[in-house]
Amino acid sequence: MIVLGIETSCDETASAVYDDGTLLSNVISSQEIHKKYGGVVPELASRAHQRLIVPVVEQSLRKAKLKKNQIEGISVTVGPGLVGSLLVGISFTKALALGLGISFIGVNHLEAHLWSWKIGNLSRGKPFIGLVISGGHCILTCVERFGKYQFLGSTKDDAPGEAFDKVAKLLNLGYPGGPVIDRISKKGNRNFVRFPRPGIKSNGYDFSFSGLKTAVLYYLRKHKKTYIEKHIADICASFQQSIIDVLIKKSFDAACSKRVDMIAVTGGVAANSSLQKAFRDRGEKEGIEIIIPEPVYCTDNAAMIAQLGCWKLRNGEKSDFSITALPSYPFPCSI
Ligand SMILES: Nc1ncnc2c1ncn2[C@@H]1O[C@H](COP(=O)(O)OP(=O)(O)OP(=O)(O)O)[C@@H](O)[C@H]1O
Ligand SMILES: [Mg+2]
Repeated sequence: MIVLGIETSCDETASAVYDDGTLLSNVISSQEIHKKYGGVVPELASRAHQRLIVPVVEQSLRKAKLKKNQIEGISVTVGPGLVGSLLVGISFTKALALGLGISFIGVNHLEAHLWSWKIGNLSRGKPFIGLVISGGHCILTCVERFGKYQFLGSTKDDAPGEAFDKVAKLLNLGYPGGPVIDRISKKGNRNFVRFPRPGIKSNGYDFSFSGLKTAVLYYLRKHKKTYIEKHIADICASFQQSIIDVLIKKSFDAACSKRVDMIAVTGGVAANSSLQKAFRDRGEKEGIEIIIPEPVYCTDNAAMIAQLGCWKLRNGEKSDFSITALPSYPFPCSI
């Protein structure tokens, strides 16, 4: 089944074409305009989606070498995300589905992230611990199979990506903060400052990262600008290591307690190179398979939306034209 996927939940306008296990195209237009504001400006994001959606979808069809009347279904992110941005993708999808006389399905962006590791991965499914770490979320689930999720924990305040972005802002490193902190940390000493590891001693699966960001803020206030500039790589590496330690501890605890031998780490923060190495090293030691998608499928993309939509449409699920944006759409849960 040929499915067109559309993603407009935040600041990426994306479109992909997926045909039962094969990704035919994946086009992502990242909105650069937000960089100068140090974060996403919702109204500017919606306007940019409006401008970009038609050319991005046309490009994804061209790359897939398909005409629009060859699409058999459409999937679109209905939440969570920015309401105005979501509405652009949803309205476009409804109009296209109506015009072509085909079914469409609204999908949860976080469920799509959870399964993003399956894009181009033909391994057979088995139960796994799913850690979704992104700009707005941090969710730990035990996945028995597609659609059968046991929620284990989530962040009570900031998401890991949000912590990266906020700390980068404190250090004047620009937006988004994750990739730049990742790069700078490579030259730093991760043991230079002992920042807190929130919740690492508790047995629960919930997370909290806002205190860590505040600890960095207090540390920066206590030290001179020249000292901070000299040790910026060490500070970045130390902050990053705190996040990695907490994520590793909770994920491996969950794998042990649920007796599963695979952890899938997804979402934008999963693109972090030190985090990937730390998960793989620990996985090797404990005999746990670690699966992390390619960086392009970690951050927002429509390939994951098309894949999830295809699976759901194949299962006979489809959405009604009354469906609208669900900015706080929880996960795990079903429409
Ligand atoms: N190499 C990296 N290291 C750490 N963080 C990273 C890296 N690359 C991207 N990020 C972070 O990932 C986040 C973006 O990821 P993603 O696109 O999945 O989030 P989102 O879609 O904004 O949020 P959500 O999926 O929760 O709605 C940003 O916070 C960014 O700083
Ligand atoms: Mg996302």
